[in-house]
Amino acid sequence: MTLRSRPTVTYEAPPNIALVKYWGVRDRALGLPYNSSFSVTLNRLRSRTRVRFDPDLDDDRVILNGAPATAGPRDGIVRFLDRVRDLAGTEDRAEVRSANNFPTASGLASSASGFAALAGAATRAAGLSLTDRALSSLARFGSGSACRSVFGGFVEWRAGHRSDGRDCYARPVYAPDHWPELVDLVLLVRKAPVKEVRSADAMQSSVRTSGCFAERQREVPRRLRRIRAAIGARRADRLFPAIMEECDSFREVCETTRPALDYLTATSRAILDEVRNGNRRAGTPIAGYTHDAGAHVHVFTLPRPLAPLRARLGALDGVERTLVVRPGPGGRTVASSRPVPQATGRDGRTRAGAVPGRSSRSGR
Ligand code: DP6
Repeated sequence: MTLRSRPTVTYEAPPNIALVKYWGVRDRALGLPYNSSFSVTLNRLRSRTRVRFDPDLDDDRVILNGAPATAGPRDGIVRFLDRVRDLAGTEDRAEVRSANNFPTASGLASSASGFAALAGAATRAAGLSLTDRALSSLARFGSGSACRSVFGGFVEWRAGHRSDGRDCYARPVYAPDHWPELVDLVLLVRKAPVKEVRSADAMQSSVRTSGCFAERQREVPRRLRRIRAAIGARRADRLFPAIMEECDSFREVCETTRPALDYLTATSRAILDEVRNGNRRAGTPIAGYTHDAGAHVHVFTLPRPLAPLRARLGALDGVERTLVVRPGPGGRTVASSRPVPQATGRDGRTRAGAVPGRSSRSGR
């Protein structure tokens, strides 16, 4: 089928940082993780993606940050478009233009924001009107963590237990303004190695070879409950040690994977040490670190320790730049050449969350 009416849709989505990490896939075809994860959606940073399906195109045209996409990045996007085409019942090729307002190679979770933005723009451009939850479930086929970037604030991706995956989905737990004092000091380190293996593949070697993987699976549910409760009660003294423990467990799994996965540089390790030492000197947890499969470090803290912490960590050898971000809103449609259709819920009524940008659950 050819899409008769072809709106051009622009959707933007933020990155998120996991406080409880997704690391291990139990069913690749359905995109089901072993364990639930929990993240904060970040403000200020955005992937903005414009999609238009065009029956006159012979092939998909994909422009990333102003240059034609090639190889792996292009293949991933085309595979994702195929999924959208299947859902929409069309074979039309698409023009995709996507750009980040932060350095793509910086390792700041550009695949999460990128695939959330692609999912939002491509589905709407194909005439589909998915609920936020359905959009999020689709986004995870581009990149697992993308399912959390559809929502704002504090987000849980429930792994579920069913083999058909029906109980596996992401949902917002606390709105972006739930804890306005919580800040994420992002430390961008110089010479951060470019990831050679996609996380989606690296984590499967951990499943197969890390002697610590099974133990981590046993611990994660309890840690997730502790982290969620600490955020619910806005208890920094409980949150910071818990996210560091979780990050250390993730790193231990990576380091015991064969061949070992080492994402940090000497500078990243110096940042972790300095956060631990700072807490010791203060006699109370004033900050907590976390990092993903990359060398940059996120340090969560509160407004009062922020300035001295930023000065101290920013002065470490090899820190290129510091950035202060906070919990922010989820994905949203920013432009459409025609009104974007409203999704309907099971009861057939139009849902407030049909357009993520307008969703009260996304915290706007
Ligand atoms: C460490 O599957 O989202 O960031 O497939 O490489 O894009 P890619 O990554 P993804 O893995 C994310 C792994 C993580 C933890 C997390 O975000 O939960």
